[in-house]
Amino acid sequence: MKAIRVREFGPPENMRIEELPTPHPGPGQVVVRVKAAGVNPVDTYIRSGVYTKKPNLPWTPGSDAAGVVESVGEGVTGVSVGARVYTSGSITGTYAEQALCEDYQLHPLLEKLSFEQGAAINVPYATAYRALFQRAEATSGEWILVHGATGGVGVAAIQLAHAAGMKVIGTGGTERGRSLVKDLGADHVLNHNEPDYLDQVQALTGDHGVDVILEMLANVNLDRDLKALAMNGRVSIIGSRGRIEIAPRDIMSRDATVVGMQLINATKQEMATIHAALQAGLGNGTLNPIVGKQMPLADAPLAHHEVMKPGAYGKIVLNP
Ligand SMILES: NC(=O)c1ccc[n+]([C@@H]2O[C@H](COP(=O)([O-])OP(=O)(O)OC[C@H]3O[C@@H](n4cnc5c(N)ncnc54)[C@H](OP(=O)(O)O)[C@@H]3O)[C@@H](O)[C@H]2O)c1
Repeated sequence: MKAIRVREFGPPENMRIEELPTPHPGPGQVVVRVKAAGVNPVDTYIRSGVYTKKPNLPWTPGSDAAGVVESVGEGVTGVSVGARVYTSGSITGTYAEQALCEDYQLHPLLEKLSFEQGAAINVPYATAYRALFQRAEATSGEWILVHGATGGVGVAAIQLAHAAGMKVIGTGGTERGRSLVKDLGADHVLNHNEPDYLDQVQALTGDHGVDVILEMLANVNLDRDLKALAMNGRVSIIGSRGRIEIAPRDIMSRDATVVGMQLINATKQEMATIHAALQAGLGNGTLNPIVGKQMPLADAPLAHHEVMKPGAYGKIVLNP
């Protein structure tokens, strides 16, 4: 089978297509024929060698994919050959024609969803769900600001918050991205490239401020986020690419809370809870993954350049 391999940490061009033996499932394992693989920013951090947890090399990137079950190992009962599935992790990596997975890393993919949409579920939707409900404990009727709403996690967050009856403000850097966010159900949309755009939050929320902020770029926004919070507000930090100075008094004066989250810290039980909730939302149509770009597997280096550029529009996926 063909798979992307990284033999040395470094730039996107260090990812090359190689011919590898097809994987065979051991006990409790499943092989998936990958139809689409999701590209996440974390794949680029790992590939470049800056991520805290480094895989052994050579390594095939990717945790997210959708496809069809090719073979199952001993003791696997929940899934059978030919089933449509999406993955939440993989043993051998998903930027490949086939991926070996633990059986608990597979979830049924509804017929109405394309494989590309299936590849856009795991990291984006599970992260948004965990940040919103498990970490920030957002509830219906609250004001939510999704700071960076046009990308994979942001789109998921807008849909989850809207479906839960929250009042939603989303931000985007391009006209095209902002109109997507509005179409997905945001009550208001702001341009995070405009100066002082967060000044509008007080007026939009009737001088209340936002109860919860889901933050995709904390090193740029955290200081201003704190000033936009309502009393007892929470900031859930999802993404950060550097350092920032804040005024702790902004937290004190609002009895506010800043929480961090990393999806890999979720327990197996928490992940099961998350995917059960996602299955319900995907089933009733309130969650509907948006795929902005599809590329052939060989274009993985290009996809890694693209995912780090401004102008996000949902997910980028690779087709093996
Ligand atoms: N903690 C975790 O477990 C976890 C899990 C998943 C992702 N993440 C992180 O969360 C971030 C988003 O992930 P993603 O998959 O959604 O990435 P993505 O699809 O590449 O989207 C990036 C988002 O960041 C937005 N952005 C750019 N400049 C911004 C600014 N000044 N203020 C606010 N937002 C800004 C982009 O908006 P425009 O392009 O419209 O400007 C876009 O909406 C990444 O840093 C990623 O590493 C963390």
